[in-house]
Amino acid sequence: MPKKDSSLVSLKGKVAVVTGGSRGIGRSICLGLSSQGVKVVVASRTETDTSANTPYEKYGSGTIGDTLERIEEQGGTGIAVKCDVSQADDIQRLVATTLDHFGRVDILVSNAGIDCASPVIDLEIEDLDRCLAVNIRGPLLLCKFALPAMIASDTSSDSGGSIFCITSGAARGYRLGRVGYSMSKAALDRMFLSLAEEVREHNIAVNVLSPGRVDTWMNRRGDWPGTAHIPMAEPDEIIPAAIWLAGQSAKSFTGQLIERADFGKTWGLQPTL
Ligand SMILES: NC(=O)c1ccc[n+]([C@@H]2O[C@H](COP(=O)([O-])OP(=O)(O)OC[C@H]3O[C@@H](n4cnc5c(N)ncnc54)[C@H](OP(=O)(O)O)[C@@H]3O)[C@@H](O)[C@H]2O)c1
Repeated sequence: MPKKDSSLVSLKGKVAVVTGGSRGIGRSICLGLSSQGVKVVVASRTETDTSANTPYEKYGSGTIGDTLERIEEQGGTGIAVKCDVSQADDIQRLVATTLDHFGRVDILVSNAGIDCASPVIDLEIEDLDRCLAVNIRGPLLLCKFALPAMIASDTSSDSGGSIFCITSGAARGYRLGRVGYSMSKAALDRMFLSLAEEVREHNIAVNVLSPGRVDTWMNRRGDWPGTAHIPMAEPDEIIPAAIWLAGQSAKSFTGQLIERADFGKTWGLQPTL
């Protein structure tokens, strides 16, 4: 008999913005949240899939429209919003569109992320700038633009709000040729853990979720020496942890950096929803 988890709240009717929702981990989070009755705003750049006949078709395919279709097929509600998180105007429009459609935002999932693979001496400045813009600046601006609405809604109730990002083990350990990527994820971690304190008084949880090694485009496309010993997870394996985190508030669980593989062991409990 699973132990009842008093920190689990119903997510039905809540509104979530998920960046990087077109494929991989983000698509799984969109579908997982939707399965709990969350209205999901699927945000990323891809509206047309051009991955057919490319070497990574299976992993690189997916559009925001496809994810929305899958949400609707399983009986859920959402919208697909084209958004490049390296562009401040796009993020501002994403939040405005969410508020226009649903009138509120309760959950933010900063999942969009890109690699930056190069030894430092060969690093292209444009690649570094793009990585920092997507992996650090974008998540911060999403919070900046969405927080006023989150704070204005009734976050003093027990349900509160929840924000989490997807970090990487690279933030805390050496990965060959990944100085740029590693530093972007380390900055993301510090940003979210500091933000957790800043918004605690508004009952908004802010947490950092490390997914482990996941079978997606990012993992298949690049070579990640030194990670072969980490078990490869399927993207859907993140769903229970994401659902649980989405249901947290600052009163129940905030300011934590947690591993998806430890969910139900050292943190959270298996959702019984
Ligand atoms: N896979 C792993 O083993 C692993 C391990 C640790 C951490 N992570 C992290 O997990 C997150 C998801 O990665 P994934 O493995 O699912 O990789 P993925 O399949 O490559 O997905 C990345 C997602 O980010 C979106 N994205 C990229 N650039 C964007 C931009 N400028 N604006 C908006 N969206 C953008 C992509 O959508 P569009 O191309 O449609 O924009 C896509 O939906 C990333 O933050 C990654 O760093 C992954």
